[in-house]
Amino acid sequence: MELENNKIIITGASSGIGMALTNEFLKYRNNTIIAVGRNEKKLIQLSSLSNNIIPFKCDLADPLQLEEFVLFIEKEHRDANILINNAGIQFNYHFLDEQHITSKIKLELDTNLSAPIALIGLLLPTLKLNYQPAIVNISSGLALSPKKQAPVYCGTKAALHIFTKSLRYQLEDVGIRVFEIIPPLVDTEMTKGRGTGKISPEDLSREFIKKFKINQYEIPIGKVKWLKLIGRLSPSLTDFIMKKGGEN
Ligand SMILES: NC(=O)c1ccc[n+]([C@@H]2O[C@H](COP(=O)([O-])OP(=O)(O)OC[C@H]3O[C@@H](n4cnc5c(N)ncnc54)[C@H](OP(=O)(O)O)[C@@H]3O)[C@@H](O)[C@H]2O)c1
Repeated sequence: MELENNKIIITGASSGIGMALTNEFLKYRNNTIIAVGRNEKKLIQLSSLSNNIIPFKCDLADPLQLEEFVLFIEKEHRDANILINNAGIQFNYHFLDEQHITSKIKLELDTNLSAPIALIGLLLPTLKLNYQPAIVNISSGLALSPKKQAPVYCGTKAALHIFTKSLRYQLEDVGIRVFEIIPPLVDTEMTKGRGTGKISPEDLSREFIKKFKINQYEIPIGKVKWLKLIGRLSPSLTDFIMKKGGEN
């Protein structure tokens, strides 16, 4: 992938990994970021950092707002060529204790799985018209070996992981590249007060960009490289480690 002259949609750009990816892409010449999130204040703060950040307030878990966003891209940014599906949420709870289980299940599925898939489906006709179209999905090490506190989150990430692989097979013949970032525990709002040994979102972004540049489509970051390797030799060992230890 050429790292310059791209118009990149980044969902969840207002914090954590999305914000670090935004800053990383802005180091390269003539990139524009369309930054999507729910919190308008955070988006305005972000866009004040550069004229090349275009904020768009959107709750992607709301199908009507998602469609409004797609219309905005079709009308005003038909030159967008990269979609980074980064927005995500995580709830930690026990299935026997949670009082609001149906609303929590729905919100996690909508945000982490349905929205990225719908965005890809609706934006592909636009992306494919442009130079080096690409999709980047963010899954998790928990897609490979889950932890016990967040079965729905782990399920959404495992589904996104397999979806991404299958979509890559479909789109490789038409020249649309499909990438997946598989992060370890990263120090962001999502993991505040939980876990140890976190990497920074900036380190993740630097590692990602090196692999993105050389078209490595599946990009395990940091400790996830080890997780994949050990998982091949002894899946029960990685399951044991992640069940309690992978508290991200
Ligand atoms: N942190 C980790 O250890 C880790 C590990 C593996 C994978 N990941 C994945 O990495 C991605 C980014 O996570 P993060 O750690 O950077 O979390 P974060 O700091 O909490 O950021 C999440 C971002 O998603 C946005 N967002 C959430 N729900 C949204 C919705 N319905 N519509 C639009 N935007 C929404 C948030 O913005 P608003 O609140 O303004 O909407 C925020 O910008 C997620 O997909 C997460 O699952 C994280």
